[in-house]
Order: sequence, then structure tokens, then C-alpha cells
Amino acid sequence: MNETILVTGGTGTLGRVVAERLLGDGREVRVLSRKPAPAGTPYSWRTGDLKTGAGIAEATEGVDTIVHCASNPMGGDVAATRNLIEATRGAHLVYISIVGIGQIPFLYYNAKLATERLIENSGLPWTILRATQFHDLVAGFTKAQLRLPVTFTLKGRFQPVDVREVADRLVELALGQPAGRVPDMGGPEVRDSRELARACLAAVGRTKPVVALSLPGKAARAFRAGANLTPAHADGKVTFEQYLSEHS
Ligand SMILES: NC(=O)c1ccc[n+]([C@@H]2O[C@H](COP(=O)([O-])OP(=O)(O)OC[C@H]3O[C@@H](n4cnc5c(N)ncnc54)[C@H](OP(=O)(O)O)[C@@H]3O)[C@@H](O)[C@H]2O)c1
Repeated sequence: MNETILVTGGTGTLGRVVAERLLGDGREVRVLSRKPAPAGTPYSWRTGDLKTGAGIAEATEGVDTIVHCASNPMGGDVAATRNLIEATRGAHLVYISIVGIGQIPFLYYNAKLATERLIENSGLPWTILRATQFHDLVAGFTKAQLRLPVTFTLKGRFQPVDVREVADRLVELALGQPAGRVPDMGGPEVRDSRELARACLAAVGRTKPVVALSLPGKAARAFRAGANLTPAHADGKVTFEQYLSEHS
């Protein structure tokens, strides 16, 4: 019998691609979302909320593997993952995390780190992949400011990676044996944040000043020092400009 794979966050930027890839590979894919199933969905859909635990027992019932992509930067990931673990019976839990979370104490990153610890100590077979920022996120910073006369960035560098390549790696991990913490995954190039903002503006035919903010605090300092980068694992092939040319 074909094994069932649950994708939490299967409606999100990453999870949507993971679910598509798994389905394309002929797998039985279940998607968990807080929203009702869209008409004609090819997935076996479960509506539930990881934070409250509603619908989670039904979502996890009989699954062999869970690719855990659901997340909320505004908070609640630790409780959500605890609910997921408590409802899960023996499935391989594959988690996507972020490069540098141990060095950069943003509140969201602290929650990601605590979530990793929960998974490691869950008693379930597990795999954790840390990736750098997705192209979508980095481009999103600039796009959100298109109406302003200037564009602000965080002073520092990014190594943006294409979400399709991260999805491919997650699928490979989900279909393999539990592997614990696997090597980090980064995009092909380490780039100054101002350069990326200018590339993004150029892609939509705009020019305006780009201002790099040097914020105070340990987290911003660690970011400026490059703790979010993994140059030794520049595994992605799709550059930021290639991504922009496809998405502008
Ligand atoms: N974005 C990046 O640059 C980046 C880089 C490295 C790692 N990551 C990690 O990759 C993962 C996915 O990121 P993303 O950018 O794809 O996120 P996203 O687009 O914001 O999607 C978040 C997903 O989480 C689901 N979700 C949120 N709260 C939920 C809840 N209480 N119950 C059930 N589902 C919930 C949402 O589903 P519904 O709204 O349908 O319920 C949505 O599908 C995150 O863990 C993130 O930390 C992201």
C-alpha cells in the first residue's frame, strides 16, 4: 500500500510546492490547513488548527511521514508543534528550520530553535533541514515598500534560495530514512542586502534610494556578522536574478 504523507502548511510558499512535488511523485498526500478544502483539490484535505489542536488527530491518523511546514512568525509554533507531536503515532517528522537560529536571537528564531528541541526529544523518528531565506521573502521586503520614496533593508547579507529547490530536498528527505539534523542548505550566492533590493527594484522598472538600517541589539549584530549564511552549502542553483525574471 502507498504510504500517506501529511504536509502541514501545505497552502504556504514552501508547503504548496512540497505537496505538489509529492503528488507528482505518485504519493498519497494529505494537506492540513485552517481553511476548508478548495474546490477540486487533488489532496486528501484536512481542516484543522495546530495551535488549538482542533482537527489534528484526524489529520495525523494513519500517516507514515509528516513534512511540517506550517509556521507563524507572529508566535505559537512551539505549542503548535507540541500538539502535532502529541497527536502523532510513530510517523517520521520532517521539519524545515532556518540557518543561524542558534546565533540570531530574533523572537521567531528562538521559537524555531525551541521547536527543533521539541522534535529532537519527541521520541519520533525525525529529520531537520535548515535553509536560508527564500527568494520570495527577500523580494517581498522590497515589494512591500514600493509606494515609499525609499526602500529600507537590514544592513547585512542574504544567501537567498529558491523555494522549489528547498522543496525538492525536503521531498528527498521525506522519502528517505529519518536522518536527524542534515547539512544546511543555502542559495547559490551571498549578496549584500542593498544589492538585492536594487535588483528587485530594477526588475519592476523602478529606481530609488536604498537605505540599509543598522539596528541595535544582539540579533541584528549576529545578522550583520553573517550568522544567517551558509557559504559552505551554497547548494541552490537558481540565482535571485533568475527568480526575479520569472516572477516580475
Ligand atoms: N520564508 C523563508 O524565507 C524561510 C526560510 C527558511 C525556512 N523557512 C521555514 O519554512 C516554513 C514555511 O515557510 P513559508 O514561508 O512557506 O510560510 P508561509 O507561506 O507563511 O505558510 C505558512 C503555512 O503555515 C500554515 N499555518 C500557520 N498557522 C497554522 C496553524 N495554527 N495551524 C495549521 N496551519 C497553520 C498556513 O496554513 P493556512 O493559512 O492554510 O492554515 C500556511 O500554509 C516555516 O517553518 C519557515 O520558518 C522559511
